[in-house]
Amino acid sequence: MRIPIIAGNWKLNNTVSEAVALTTALKALVADSIGVEIIVAPPFTALSAVHNVIAESNIRLSAQDVFWEDSGAFTGEVSAPLLKDVGCDYVIIGHSERRQYFGETNECVNRKVKAALAHGLKPIICVGEQLEEREAGGTETVIENHVTGGIAGLSASDLLSSVIAYEPVWAIGTGKTATPAQAQEVHNFIRGLLTNAYSDEVASQICLQYGGSVKPENAAELMAQPDVDGALVGGASLEAESFAQIVKRAI
Ligand code: PGA
Repeated sequence: MRIPIIAGNWKLNNTVSEAVALTTALKALVADSIGVEIIVAPPFTALSAVHNVIAESNIRLSAQDVFWEDSGAFTGEVSAPLLKDVGCDYVIIGHSERRQYFGETNECVNRKVKAALAHGLKPIICVGEQLEEREAGGTETVIENHVTGGIAGLSASDLLSSVIAYEPVWAIGTGKTATPAQAQEVHNFIRGLLTNAYSDEVASQICLQYGGSVKPENAAELMAQPDVDGALVGGASLEAESFAQIVKRAI
């Protein structure tokens, strides 16, 4: 069966010393947690230091973005080989904040996904509709567009090395969570898209995370939905205690 994945997306927060302190506290709190994949995604500057803290623990490292080229004259960018070099296993790609503030398109997300996979990084591909799109009845169209655009050209085994995170934009950082039924409806829709594009077998194996104001108080109910296999957590991942509680709700 699918192992739930709980990932903490720290966004633009934490100096190296803050990141080390947070990870050290988290490591102690989740030391006994088995049957769940626990991931932290610090900013680039703290990846290496956090990797030293989590060595030989049950916590995995993710970056928050990656560029599609491996090296060269691309000032300011960080590539998949560089992320592997500092110990990343995962990378978040196409987060709604990247789409919204940095103009990332499905094509760009797809190039990044392929670059990550080519270097053995597991992409966490984010998809999600804005409030106006939901209110206009366009949720499924947007989700289909993000999913098919993001995974275009991936083989079944590439897809199975990937995670898809459904994050309704209106629920991110707003305190407004999708109801468990709303999350389940979209997750089930995504699994249906993957069944059509690949097979039932492939679709039933991929992990679909929910993200958007996940807290210890709502995590259990969301993850109890049959197609919700974990959480991508922003705000509540910045405190070891609340993130650890969410991890425990997944087991
Ligand atoms: P949030 O962020 O938990 O603070 O809503 C989630 C995310 O953006 O991944």
